[in-house]
Amino acid sequence: MDKRIEEAVKRESTSKDYALEYYEAEKELLDGLFSLDTEFLDSLFTRKGKLFDATMGRGRHVIHFAKRGFEVFGNDYNRNMVELVRKDLNRLKLKARLYNHNITDLSRIKDNSFDYVISMGHSLGCIPKIKNREKAVKEFARVVKPDGLVVVHGHNIFGDISLEDVLPMLKCCILPGSGLEPRDMIYFHSKNLGHTFIHYFSLNELHRLFAAAGLKIQKKAGLNWKQNGYYRGPLKSLMCGGFIFVGKK
Ligand SMILES: C[S@@+](CC[C@H](N)C(=O)[O-])C[C@H]1O[C@@H](n2cnc3c(N)ncnc32)[C@H](O)[C@@H]1O
Repeated sequence: MDKRIEEAVKRESTSKDYALEYYEAEKELLDGLFSLDTEFLDSLFTRKGKLFDATMGRGRHVIHFAKRGFEVFGNDYNRNMVELVRKDLNRLKLKARLYNHNITDLSRIKDNSFDYVISMGHSLGCIPKIKNREKAVKEFARVVKPDGLVVVHGHNIFGDISLEDVLPMLKCCILPGSGLEPRDMIYFHSKNLGHTFIHYFSLNELHRLFAAAGLKIQKKAGLNWKQNGYYRGPLKSLMCGGFIFVGKK
């Protein structure tokens, strides 16, 4: 893999500052996507059950569903995230079992373990290479129960990037030996995390990832450009800022 991608992924998976400043760094999402996705999950998960947040970050859904009385399991490959979530759970006197695995290999978790598997906040887009994103979604399908649900959020290529991102993105992709695939980008995230890797989705790729994992789509939400509401028009591929896919095996 290209050295820049390796270094970017290493920074994200090890940075303590990223974990400490997660909400500050993602603050443009707090009133938009981060409220909308929780409401979406609440309306979907009407029965309590075992919920696995495969890429929990600072644990906003781990804490939310632990408060709602679900049996919660959280995971993140950045161990600083895991430690901070553990501290928050203790402070709030809530319980959840936490793991520190890479979602491309969840072999330490048994098949058919959970009623709900979630990966929100565009986490799959942190993974370079389509084959690795495929591995992750296959792992989600393996660890969810046969009647359980897998829920994934991803930013759409046409929604999240601004015009000034287009040129660097094109440059990234055409540099010889860049190791980048279509809709990949190395971009400046924040002072503490520095440059990191991001892959943007198309509607098509999310469909292909779910199909390759044997997940049948149960529900599909197209979000508006700001991702603070739903887009209900006919041009989802073009007009959506992001998507939430729900699948069952
Ligand atoms: C953008 S954050 C989203 C966090 C959380 N789901 C949310 O919506 O607030 C992505 C998280 O996924 C984690 N992550 C990225 N790739 C991962 C992987 N391959 N395995 C496990 N965790 C991963 C990152 O460390 C980060 O905490």
